[in-house]
Amino acid sequence: MNVALLSGALSLASGAVLSASTKLPEQAQLLLPEATVVLPSVPPPEVANGIPVFVPPGTSLQSLTDKPFHVFHEEFIAIIGESPTLTLIADSGTNPMFHEAVVWHPPTEEVFFAQNAGAKAAGTGLHRSSVIQKVSLSEAMAVSHLRNGVGKVQVQVVDFQPAVINPNGGTNYKGNFIFAGEGMGSDIAPALYLANPEPPYNTTILINNYYGRQFNSVNDVAVNPWNGDIYFTDVTYGYLQDFRPKPVLPNQVYKLNAVTKAVTAVADEFVNCNGITFSPDGRYAYVTDTGSAQGFYGYEPTKPSSIYRYTVAADGTFENRKLFAHVTSRVPDGVHCDTNGNVYAGCGDGVHVWNPSGVLLGKIFTGETAANFQFAGDGRMVICGETHLYFATLAAKGAALT
Ligand SMILES: *[C@@H]1O[C@H](CO)[C@@H](O)[C@H](O)[C@H]1NC(C)=O
Repeated sequence: MNVALLSGALSLASGAVLSASTKLPEQAQLLLPEATVVLPSVPPPEVANGIPVFVPPGTSLQSLTDKPFHVFHEEFIAIIGESPTLTLIADSGTNPMFHEAVVWHPPTEEVFFAQNAGAKAAGTGLHRSSVIQKVSLSEAMAVSHLRNGVGKVQVQVVDFQPAVINPNGGTNYKGNFIFAGEGMGSDIAPALYLANPEPPYNTTILINNYYGRQFNSVNDVAVNPWNGDIYFTDVTYGYLQDFRPKPVLPNQVYKLNAVTKAVTAVADEFVNCNGITFSPDGRYAYVTDTGSAQGFYGYEPTKPSSIYRYTVAADGTFENRKLFAHVTSRVPDGVHCDTNGNVYAGCGDGVHVWNPSGVLLGKIFTGETAANFQFAGDGRMVICGETHLYFATLAAKGAALT
């Protein structure tokens, strides 16, 4: 592309509607790509490797936090609406109680989430399972005008029985939840659990093996709204975090046929497949690869921190693997779509948002790892920040529940 064309495209994409004088919501700020494409000095690789938060010139960690809705592209304005809010609603100190498996149960207006199963600070994994907790959305809504509502929202442990062992991913399924349990040691196999979101919180195992073999540690689960089948990722994190034995399968995405119960591998070629979701029409699958995050074995920035998109074929298998996005802050873990097919992923400094063409539109900045999050009704989102739990309000709506 010649330079004139390129600069024309840039000004069309960013200058036409957005400029420094554009009036933005109180909690939003403009961070146009053109302001950072040439830096006065570019930090060396031992400093800028995807782990520290990128603080663009003219900003500070404080200013990035003060206005946490970062607008990179004009399309983000419609997503956040006129008065987006971000509120810290719980703080668990050093124990990562707010990790993943974020699921909303509309009849009771509650959101459930799981403790980090593999983190040393959690003391879970091999001898003790991570736990599932919940909050009430009405309590979260009541503090959404505050930036800090800690102490005003009750966080309650939910005692699912039989227990979901080391829950990590979760999704809605016909009025119930499905949790992905990573397993424990050699004797408790990773499994998908169907869980009743209301008392007595009973559970039933949906699948716990692949033709007699244990999965590595099932990580996340999503239901395709178009064919109704259950898709899940399986990856070696239990092994990389010392609570599962040496794996006996490649890291893959599987499809569980909801009717016949046949299980089929539908995608491989990952380092560490992780989050999974579908576009609202079920036509596309998005799978994150957190290959750069290697559990207790460190961080390798030359490995994927990426989201891949597939076309879902008529028979439910995946085709046309495409690099959808590489994320700029640690790894993309949980991934979800809104009703318009925009793609949201939990990353190292908050929730990043792309349009269906893979253009980074903006982020909800937490300044720390946001492993997963979930829409919880129109314009509401719960974000898990390991030791911090956040509640956000915005204009976007989550894709319909399955
Ligand atoms: C919970 O128990 C009820 C009553 O036995 C049963 O009908 C239902 O299928 C169970 N749900 C799950 C998720 O196991």
